[in-house]
Amino acid sequence: MSDTPTGTRPAPGTRGAAIVSWGTALPDNVVTNADFEARLDTTDAWITERTGIKERRHGGSTASLATEAGRAALDAAGLTGDDIDYLLLATTTPDYQIPSTASEVEDALGIRGGASDLNAACSGFVYALVHAHGLIAMGLQRVLIIGAETMSRVTDMEDRNTAILFGDGAGAVVVEATDDDGQLLGFDLGSDGSLRSLLDAPIGGVMQMNGKEVFRQAVTVMVRSANASLAAAGATADDLALVVPHQANIRIIDAACNRLGIGSDRLATVLHATGNTSSASIPLALVDALDAGRVAPGDLVLLVGFGAGMSWASAVVRWPDVDALRSSGATS
Ligand code: COA
Repeated sequence: MSDTPTGTRPAPGTRGAAIVSWGTALPDNVVTNADFEARLDTTDAWITERTGIKERRHGGSTASLATEAGRAALDAAGLTGDDIDYLLLATTTPDYQIPSTASEVEDALGIRGGASDLNAACSGFVYALVHAHGLIAMGLQRVLIIGAETMSRVTDMEDRNTAILFGDGAGAVVVEATDDDGQLLGFDLGSDGSLRSLLDAPIGGVMQMNGKEVFRQAVTVMVRSANASLAAAGATADDLALVVPHQANIRIIDAACNRLGIGSDRLATVLHATGNTSSASIPLALVDALDAGRVAPGDLVLLVGFGAGMSWASAVVRWPDVDALRSSGATS
């Protein structure tokens, strides 16, 4: 892969955008490490120590989880489907090969604008966030982006290398045009297709993964992509209030954050309770941090992910004053 980061700042004068609301969904069915201990050659201690995961949720369809998260995001801003110009659904586990899962979610939410799926594996949510800013720069008013996955459907539950890692869930945000430059200060989207066989699943099949090599590559690309986005934003790691990394393995997160100089006090993590939910993991961790009051208007937040492909993506956003945007009528 190229050593040159592709960090990019939105073009000067670009119509800005900001996140104005959010929502999440998780299946009810909790699968604990003890459940795996009972039927695979593994232990709670091994899983906890090697991954940081204690439990994950399994169940539902990608469309049903996406719809629940999307509806919560619309409700939070008092919006309906009519207010949305485009639905972008990041998923690597669509319910059908044809049509897009977004078409079912669009119908359920009463959205009449464009709708499509986006598959960049676990980098999908950040890819979608950047795409949404591009669509708004070209004139759309509001884009609903959702990361939704049913990873349990493409996981071999007899394979201890992968079964313990993945979970199902969804997270959604509404991105809306603003009068100013908006929240996006810098971003980096990348992919190295020569590494695609490190983690894959054929249509109708289950995942196979070279875990050790994925781990090694993941730390490298996370650090490089984060630095590229920070450089594009004219910021340093010291300026960040919060880092929201892809939730794959706590050791990957810790290794990358050590290199970036980010301590756990500035990290958003939910993987102990969700496992790796691919495109859903960054919005689930972001919303968890928002709910805990860990993000204030003006804070710089780094979102950084990596995944199959091998893909990677990061973005530095200045957290908007969401209450002001909502009360200014921007969302009406
Ligand atoms: N329970 C117990 N032992 C396990 C196990 C499990 N669930 N899974 C693997 N092992 C075993 C291996 O078979 C191996 O045994 P061996 O030495 O007899 O061959 C041993 O543990 C060590 O395996 P190793 O692959 O070196 O472990 P690891 O520390 O690299 O951890 C992963 C394995 C999969 C947890 C880790 O490599 C990882 O998280 N990789 C990245 C995966 C990822 O993030 N994928 C998604 C990308 S979006």
